[in-house]
Amino acid sequence: MTRPYVIDEMISAKAIAARIEALANEIQAKFKGTDKLVVVGLLRGSFVFIADLVRELDLPVEVDFLEASSYGNSTESSREVRILKDLRGEIAGRDVLVVEDIVDTGHTLKHVTSLLTSREPKRLACIALLDKPTRREVDVKADWTGFEIPDEFVVGYGIDFAQRNRNLPFIGSVRFTDDAQG
Ligand code: IMP
Repeated sequence: MTRPYVIDEMISAKAIAARIEALANEIQAKFKGTDKLVVVGLLRGSFVFIADLVRELDLPVEVDFLEASSYGNSTESSREVRILKDLRGEIAGRDVLVVEDIVDTGHTLKHVTSLLTSREPKRLACIALLDKPTRREVDVKADWTGFEIPDEFVVGYGIDFAQRNRNLPFIGSVRFTDDAQG
């Protein structure tokens, strides 16, 4: 059982859509002329973001997924990153875009980008919908970020708390209602 909580809207569905359109234009400019861009979604939090992002990209794309270990039922990150599900396809010599939901401590993105770099893609770039820069523990930054947010636990638009709230169309912050601070 999780503690009781309410969700306060932080970023509206409309603001997310507008930001994705702008980001897609920048990605298109960077990868213009590519024979194929392999868009790699990090499961499970990026599944809504990747779905909206690829539909804004006017490029030949292939979609693949990779799953790294996450928080489980906690709101605290574990520092050790494990690959639970690897890519189906080869990325050697290919253009690759890694799609992450949130860069928090940075351990996941750092681990995934060094793993994928070792497979010798032609170009590797990363996009994160959200970034919590004040939480960073390792030196890593996505090439594109949707929104910088404060150190708050968020849900919605694919992002969960203990597997709940992924289906909210907006990003909201979790506020525990049993907390005396309210
Ligand atoms: P990092 O390795 O600490 O950067 O954590 C990255 C992963 O932790 C993200 O891909 C999310 O799955 C998860 N995460 C980080 N912050 C949050 C949050 O506020 N809500 C839900 N999941 C989060």
